[in-house]
Amino acid sequence: MNQGLKGIVAAQTAISYIDGNKGHLVYRGFDAKKIALEFSFEEAAYLLWYGQKPNQAQLADLADALKSHRTLPGYLMDIIDTLPQDMDLMGVIRTAVSALGDASFEWMPTTEQAIKLTGIIPSIIAYRKRKLANKPYVAPNEELNHVANYLYMLTGEMPLPAHISALETYMILTLEHGMNASTFSARVTISTESDMASAVTSAIGTMKGPLHGGAPSGVTQMLNDIKSEERAEKWLREKIENGERLMGFGHRVYKTTDPRAEALREKAMEVSGQDKWLDLALHVEKLAAKLLAEYKPGRNLYANVEFYAAAVMRAIDMDDALFTPTFTASRVVGWSAHVIEQAEHNTIFRPNSEYIGHLPEFE
Ligand code: CMC
Repeated sequence: MNQGLKGIVAAQTAISYIDGNKGHLVYRGFDAKKIALEFSFEEAAYLLWYGQKPNQAQLADLADALKSHRTLPGYLMDIIDTLPQDMDLMGVIRTAVSALGDASFEWMPTTEQAIKLTGIIPSIIAYRKRKLANKPYVAPNEELNHVANYLYMLTGEMPLPAHISALETYMILTLEHGMNASTFSARVTISTESDMASAVTSAIGTMKGPLHGGAPSGVTQMLNDIKSEERAEKWLREKIENGERLMGFGHRVYKTTDPRAEALREKAMEVSGQDKWLDLALHVEKLAAKLLAEYKPGRNLYANVEFYAAAVMRAIDMDDALFTPTFTASRVVGWSAHVIEQAEHNTIFRPNSEYIGHLPEFE
C-alpha cells in the first residue's frame, strides 16, 4: 500500500514536469523560472492552457477575455455579503466559485470556462476583503493587466511597478505544479464527468489546508514568534523535538531546494531591500535546513515555495489572510488546464482501499 499515494503515477500530463532531485520545474517544455521572469501572467496562462506561446493577437484576446470576467454579478455579491463574517477567505472563494457553476459550466470543460474563473477570482477576493474592512468596492480598471488590477481592486490605489512585478513573479511560479493535492482533487471531480466549477470548488477546499496552500501564513507566524536571530536555534530545536512541522519546509517531490523558493528569495530581496524581517528569514532558512538534516537525516528537507511566498507577500504589503487566496488566484490556471486534459483522456479515478476491519460470518 502507498499511504498518500506516494510515488504513484496517476495520470499522464503534458502541462508541467518536475525534477525533484535537480530542482527543475517545466511548464509545457519551458523552464518555469525563466517564464516567471520573462512572461506576463497572461502569457504564462496562455502557454499552460493552449500548450504554446501566444502571438500578439492571441495575447490581446486573452487579456480582453480575462478583463470581461472581472465584474462580479449582483447575485454573487449578495451571496458573499450573506456569508458569516468569520468565514475565512478560502471558504468565501470556495462558496463563490460553487455559486458561479451555472448551466454554462456543463460538461465538457472548456478554456472559456477556465478564463471565466481565472478572471473573476481576484475580484471575489478583493470584494470580500474590502467589505470586511468597511471599505467601498473598487471597480476593475480596464487599463490594468490581470495582476496589477488585482492589487488595484484590493487597495483602491495604483500599485507600484515593483509590487506588480513581485506579485506577477509569484503568481506565475505558482500557476501549476503537477499532481499536487488540489490538482488531484480537481482531476478526481472532473473524472466523474462533473463540471469545471465543481472541479475547481473541490480544488479550493483541498488548497486551504496548511500542509498544502495554507502554509505561508504559518511561515509569518513562525518568523514573528522567533523574532530575532539569537532566538532562532532554540525555537527551531524545540519545535522539531516536539514533533512539530516547520511551515515552509519539506516537499513530497523536491529533495533539494524548491526552485520556486529560490526565485522568490531573489524577488523578495529585490523588493524589500535592507529589511530585518527578510534577514531573519534568510537566517532561518539556512538554520532550519541544517537542523532538519540533523534531526531528520536522509529526508532532504529544504525551503519550499511557501517559505519565500510569505516574504514576497509581506514585501508588497499583502496581509496573511491574502496569502492562500492569492495562491488560489494563480493556481486556478493549473487546475483548469488539468481539468481539460483529464476530460480529453478520461478514466474515472477509483482506487482501492485495504479493509482492516472485521468480517462477518457469511452463510
Ligand atoms: N518540518 C519537520 N519535519 C518534517 C517536515 C517539516 N516541514 N516535513 C517533513 N518532515 C519530516 C516528517 O516528520 C517525516 O519524518 P519521519 O520520517 O521521522 O516520520 C519525514 O520528514 C517525511 O515526511 P512526510 O510527511 O512523509 O513527507 P511528505 O512528502 O508526505 O510531506 C509536506 C510533504 C509538504 C506535507 C511536508 O514536508 C510538510 O508538512 N511541510 C510543512 C508544510 C508546508 O510547508 N507545506 C507547503 C508545501 S509546498 C506547496 C504545496 O505543494 O502546496
